[in-house]
Order: sequence, then C-alpha cells, then structure tokens
Amino acid sequence: MFQQLSLFELDTNDHVKCFYRKIQQSGFDYQEIDIGDITFKAGQMETVHRWYRLTPSYSPSLVRFFIKEFQIDRNHFVLDTFSGRGTTSIECQKHGIESLGIEVNPLLQQVGNKSLTWDTIYLDLFKQYLTEVSGSIEKFTQSSIEEVVDYFNTRIPIIHNVFRWWKKPILKDLIICREVMLQPTYEAIRDYVWIALAEACLDCANIHRNHPTITFDDDHQREIDVFFEVEKNLKTIRDDLMSLERDEISFSELGRIELGNSTQNLQQHVNRPVDFVITSPPYPNRYSYVHQTRPQLHFMEVLERVAEATEIDLQAIGGTWGRATSILQKELIEVPTEIEPYLCYHEELKNKSILMCNYATKYFLDMWNHIKHIKEIKASNFQGAYIVGNSRLSGVDIFTESILGKLFQHEGFEVERIVSFRKRGGKKRLYETAVCVKS
Ligand SMILES: C[S@@+](CC[C@H](N)C(=O)[O-])C[C@H]1O[C@@H](n2cnc3c(N)ncnc32)[C@H](O)[C@@H]1O
Repeated sequence: MFQQLSLFELDTNDHVKCFYRKIQQSGFDYQEIDIGDITFKAGQMETVHRWYRLTPSYSPSLVRFFIKEFQIDRNHFVLDTFSGRGTTSIECQKHGIESLGIEVNPLLQQVGNKSLTWDTIYLDLFKQYLTEVSGSIEKFTQSSIEEVVDYFNTRIPIIHNVFRWWKKPILKDLIICREVMLQPTYEAIRDYVWIALAEACLDCANIHRNHPTITFDDDHQREIDVFFEVEKNLKTIRDDLMSLERDEISFSELGRIELGNSTQNLQQHVNRPVDFVITSPPYPNRYSYVHQTRPQLHFMEVLERVAEATEIDLQAIGGTWGRATSILQKELIEVPTEIEPYLCYHEELKNKSILMCNYATKYFLDMWNHIKHIKEIKASNFQGAYIVGNSRLSGVDIFTESILGKLFQHEGFEVERIVSFRKRGGKKRLYETAVCVKS
C-alpha cells in the first residue's frame, strides 16, 4: 500500500545525501517511505482533527500508518507524550483503541481533551447558542468594550498590548461569545463552543495566520466578523459529529489528554503498562508552543497570571521566548560524559552560539529524561514511534533522529529502524523521520 521511494534518486541535492549518509553512519537501519502529506494540512480535511488548526501537528494518516505497522488493536494501550492538538488520541479513538495523551501546554491539553467527547444528543443547542450570541452582539452594538466587560462581570485579557492583538470592537464581540458560552444553559455543548472560540479568537486577531509562527499584521484591512467565524467553526464541529459512525460515537472519551510534563515521572498518569507510543516531541529549534498560543491562552482565560506563560515555557521541550530564553543564554550547559559522544554538533556549535548550543543540549537532556521515564511504564513488548525533524542552528546540522536513536540505545531500547518521510516545508534540508524503537 505504501510506495517505497529512493530519495537519492529523486533529489541530487548534497544536503539530502548528507542527511541519509548520517543516518547510515550512525548504524541504524533506515527506510524511505512516502505516505503523502504528513503535515497538519492533511488533518484539516478529516473529521474531528480539523476542529483545531495546529501547524506543527502531524497528519492522522501517519498515526494510521503506525497503527497498521505495529498491528495495534483494541486490547492495546497507546500513549502520546507530546500530544499537541491530540492527533494520536483522536485517531486511536476512531479505531476504538484506548489512549492517553500528555501535554504541557494547558490550551492544547484542553483542545485535545475536548476533541475526544463525541456526543450528538444536544446538537440543537448549537442553534440556540448562536441565536443568543447574535442577539447580544446586536444589543451591545453601541456599547463600549468596557461596558460589556462590566455587564458580564469579567475582565479584558491580561496579555501585554491587548488592543494590538485585537481591535476593540472585535474583542468586544469575542467576549460576548465567551460569556454567553459560560451560561449554564450551554453546559452540554460548552466543550464544542470552547474549541470553536479558541480557534476563532486567533483567526480574529491582527496577525498573519498562514505562517507557522504568529507575527503582528498591524495594518491589515481585513473585514473581521466574529459571529461568522464562530458560526463557521461550530458548523464544522456539528457536521463532523453528525457524520461519525454509530460505533465511533460509542468510543467517545475512550481517550483522554492530561496536563503534564513528559520529562518527569509518568507513572502518575498511567494505570496500565504502555504497549505503544506514537508521538512527536518538539524539534530542536526556536519554536515556542507557549509563545505561539499566547493570545488564546489569555483570551480563553486558561492562564490566571502573566508569569504563568514563562513558567510553562520553562517546562517545555524545545524553543523558548522572553525570560526563558534569557535564562538559557547565560552559561554553556555541561554535557554528562556518558552521552557526550552522541551530541556531535556540540564542539562546532558551542563556538558559534552559546544560546543555540544550549537549546540543542537542553533538548537532548530533556529527551533523555523522557526516555528514562518511558522505561518505567512500558509493557514488555513495547514499541514506539517518535516523529522528529532535523534542524540547523547557527549553520550547524542537528541530526535529531540519530542522536535520539543513540539515547534510546543507551537506555537499553532497540532501535528497530529510522523511517524517513518526505521533506517538510520548502527547505530542502529539513526532513521528518520516525525513530522506531522497541524494548
Ligand atoms: C510537535 S507538537 C505535537 C503535535 C501533535 N503530534 C499533534 O499532531 O497535534 C509537540 C507538543 O509537545 C508539547 N510539549 C513540549 N514540552 C513538553 C513536555 N515537557 N511535556 C509534555 N508536552 C510537551 C508542546 O506543547 C507541543 O504541543
């Protein structure tokens, strides 16, 4: 079913050759497979997955690929330790397979968890909610945002430069949508409205939305219609719930996503040995998930204090911003001698940039901790697929998959193979690979 391709034949670019040579040199078996688009875009066309757009997420077809490869069935238990918007758990639930996701970012944890409730009983409430929102927006047309905030006894989001993120009339309508959602009448559909609103509040912000990273778009002339965005998102959710098969609906809440840090003890999260991990940790680059979800973290009132964003960023693997980055900038992180030989970027990168070198080193130390904790919860026939990407920091190649493979071996796992999928993004030297391990 899956077409095998030789990327050597497809692309003569030197970076391509260097990339595959590196995997071969590291002594791992590797395989090149094309299963089509494995990026978030493919998920935007699939029921439930499309409720929330997270550009670094992988495609549901990638999860299906591993469900088939590993022969996962309904007796098994699957873990996704870096759950994002919940692609692994949503797909497992569609297959009737129990799963658990762990996610450090509370916005994404809630998005994932709420995406696993599939209930068609109260769909009529969607219409009632939209009618009430439309009436309230009309009622407050002439009111200021401050008056609306007073009326609902709420507050303006505590994000810095709030009116740069949202124009006042837009934020006023978003707040009306949120406060109507919180009324007891809508409790039965609140999770769905919450997702629709979490998505809409970013679409209604003054930012460029077609980039993986969010940046201000101050001078845009877009017409923003809050009601239209929320209505559109709710319609997608309603259509998807109605198109789910009866047995898929019966699997509702078979999976769940918990808030947690996967570099720490995982025993508190699981109540049975883990048969499989299908996951995608962040990549060793500067992308901070907390930074990228800040407007929603604040608008959806997931954070109570401004400083909480930094606290989460400090716990997360991968990119950081603001204060968390200043902390990393200081002294070169010491590498424990037992894993020093694996971190082949270190010598060159430490002379180019202490911050970049620390980014990479912290990343691998965090992943090493994670692997140690996976050892404590795995079943005897454990298999795992870790989808990772290579990166380039200050001109130095970071061969994430090879280093991760070495760390797994170091902890006693067998690296069965490294599967390389096709290139990611437009840049020729960036790849997505799966490090396939077993116990
Ligand atoms: C590449 S994304 C996962 C995307 C996911 N596969 C999907 O399809 O939506 C990596 C995720 O790991 C999360 N993360 C980062 N550090 C973490 C940690 N220490 N523990 C748990 N999750 C973490 C990030 O917040 C992010 O959502």
